[in-house]
Amino acid sequence: MSSEQSMAEGTVLKIKPRSELYRGEFTTTVLDQKEKTWVIGMPEVKGKFIPLPVGTVVEVSFLDGNKPSFQSEIVGRSFIGGRNLTITAPLSISRGGRNGKNKSVGRVIAFSSGKGGVGKSTITINVALALQSLGKRCCIIDVDLGTANVDVLLQLKTPYNLYDLISGEKEIEDIIVTGPQGLLLVPGGSGLDELANLKEWQFSRLISAFNKLEEAVDYLLLDTGAGVSRNVTNFLMAADEIVLIAVPEPHAIMDVYSLIKVLTRYEIKSRIKLIVNKVEEEEEAYNVWNTISSVSREFLDLPVEYLGLIPYSDTIALSVKKQEPFLLYNPKHPAAKNFLRITELLTGEESKKEETGFLPFINKLKRIFKTTSL
Ligand SMILES: Nc1ncnc2c1ncn2[C@@H]1O[C@H](COP(=O)(O)OP(=O)(O)O)[C@@H](O)[C@H]1O
Ligand SMILES: [Mg+2]
Repeated sequence: MSSEQSMAEGTVLKIKPRSELYRGEFTTTVLDQKEKTWVIGMPEVKGKFIPLPVGTVVEVSFLDGNKPSFQSEIVGRSFIGGRNLTITAPLSISRGGRNGKNKSVGRVIAFSSGKGGVGKSTITINVALALQSLGKRCCIIDVDLGTANVDVLLQLKTPYNLYDLISGEKEIEDIIVTGPQGLLLVPGGSGLDELANLKEWQFSRLISAFNKLEEAVDYLLLDTGAGVSRNVTNFLMAADEIVLIAVPEPHAIMDVYSLIKVLTRYEIKSRIKLIVNKVEEEEEAYNVWNTISSVSREFLDLPVEYLGLIPYSDTIALSVKKQEPFLLYNPKHPAAKNFLRITELLTGEESKKEETGFLPFINKLKRIFKTTSL
């Protein structure tokens, strides 16, 4: 049974509007539950109703603290037959409002690497935040079974995780949490090695949970483990796109190549893209991409697209230490542009922007030259 179905009417909620006009947190009660919306009492302060307007985004938490909070939006307001508000239920995010766009299902992008510690989680988190800033709803699923840590990097309390979902104890609505900027996270957790030998029913639970999420967001980002195990490749094969992270070190480049090689065995249909992280000199990044893509094309007949580079930066390292996403920690830092440019390339929205200042002309030429000459 989902949390939505099991949620008794009368549950006390706290709602916090994201609005300049209505600051603070208000307590209210669930009056009625529909499939995709909840009707709640209009909040009251000192006998005065607070008529929060339709379109207001609100953070919703539960008074008893047992259920994870979620982001919602006010989609209705009534003064007749009792004052109340209608808000979107968890995982039924309103599509009409701010984006003004109907969508079908989200794109699934898996971030992976040949070895650990190359910046997969850092990049996944910051790309997710950049996507949110472009108005795309995003959810990270932490499927790095060995070292799931996105919750730690975002300083999020996660009462439950994927393990509870797979074991059949919890539903996706119970384990999902809301992070900064409304970013959603499905936390990974300990005990997940079991995923290697998923039973049929467990796998179908996972897939149906992911499908549910795909309908609720624009992008599902999978932070996968490193290496070539089934635990990693299963998720990569489920993705629409695979973004590999490499660093400019010879063995890291070899590891990425080995991963690509394994992927060809499974006849993956996903497009493979590359980000080079911890780059000191721009030229290094092109060399890494050049090596990987030419070998991959020659021996595996598989093109690898270049998405861009992230420079090595002490500020990025510091933001990780402080458990604050880099784009929020120092949005004006020059490297923030690298994350934004990569995100725009991923969404295919680059062409809509003026490119000056983003990618120097000569580098653009280099990229085009290298892409077409392979
Ligand atoms: N561009 C960068 N510049 C400096 N340090 C980085 C950069 N990207 C990642 N790091 C550091 O590398 C370490 C590993 O990053 P993480 O994202 O956890 O890697 P992974 O998820 O691949 O294991 C972290 O300590 C982080 O601070
Ligand atoms: Mg990681």
